[in-house]
Amino acid sequence: MRKILIVNPKGGSGKSTLATHLASWFAWQEAKVMLGDLDKQHSSHHWLNLRSAQLPQIARWEIGDDQIARPPKGSQVAVLDTPACFANGKLKKVLKIVDHVIVPILPSAFDLWASADFFEELAEMKAVRREEVQVGAVGMRVNSRTQAATQLPAFLQKFDIPLITCIRDTQLYNQTIQRGMTLFDLPASKIMRDQAEWQPLFDWVMRRTPQAFRAAV
Ligand SMILES: Nc1ncnc2c1ncn2[C@@H]1O[C@H](COP(=O)(O)OP(=O)(O)OP(=O)(O)O)[C@@H](O)[C@H]1O
Ligand SMILES: [Mg+2]
Repeated sequence: MRKILIVNPKGGSGKSTLATHLASWFAWQEAKVMLGDLDKQHSSHHWLNLRSAQLPQIARWEIGDDQIARPPKGSQVAVLDTPACFANGKLKKVLKIVDHVIVPILPSAFDLWASADFFEELAEMKAVRREEVQVGAVGMRVNSRTQAATQLPAFLQKFDIPLITCIRDTQLYNQTIQRGMTLFDLPASKIMRDQAEWQPLFDWVMRRTPQAFRAAV
């Protein structure tokens, strides 16, 4: 099973947007997907409640906030959304059960400063040091013509974190999320540009089999 953690303690960095879109993309690939939500605001699970039964299904992964357990057997992919201010102790526990860590990041000075501390803490975690988990970042709401966007790759390089892709700022995200959908539930002709932006992330996640991570240690 592929287990993907979406984390950035900075609020509003795009965690739930990333988690719901990843889950939806895997569902369209006919994978058995579970979506877990450790956020007390339950943004991802709220979205799941709105999702039409006509769309590719995503199962709810009920994961206890205090007793973090592995996703149930039978699924092929588990995506886990986390809250802002996710505590270090919890992160350490969750890192034991995932293979991929994706950090969404906005290209603003405030967000980069907040994420710098987080990346330093992440680098110290045993699972990261041992390369049992693969860590990558995704630029969210990026306008490629801005100076802020050009600073993002250099910033991430300092922490040796790959910038997997950048996702543009478009109202399509808000419009689809509020209907229990994602961009991937829209006709392909409407999202050609966005699909191309997401593709490097899907390739990155699919590159190594989950077993390879722990077996390599
Ligand atoms: N690429 C995008 N284009 C436009 N709006 C976006 C994009 N990505 C995210 N948003 C919007 O930004 C806001 C914050 O995104 P989201 O809720 O996914 O962040 P979050 O990290 O989960 O927040 P929190 O820390 O509160 O859980 C939302 O209103 C969302 O619709
Ligand atoms: Mg959220």
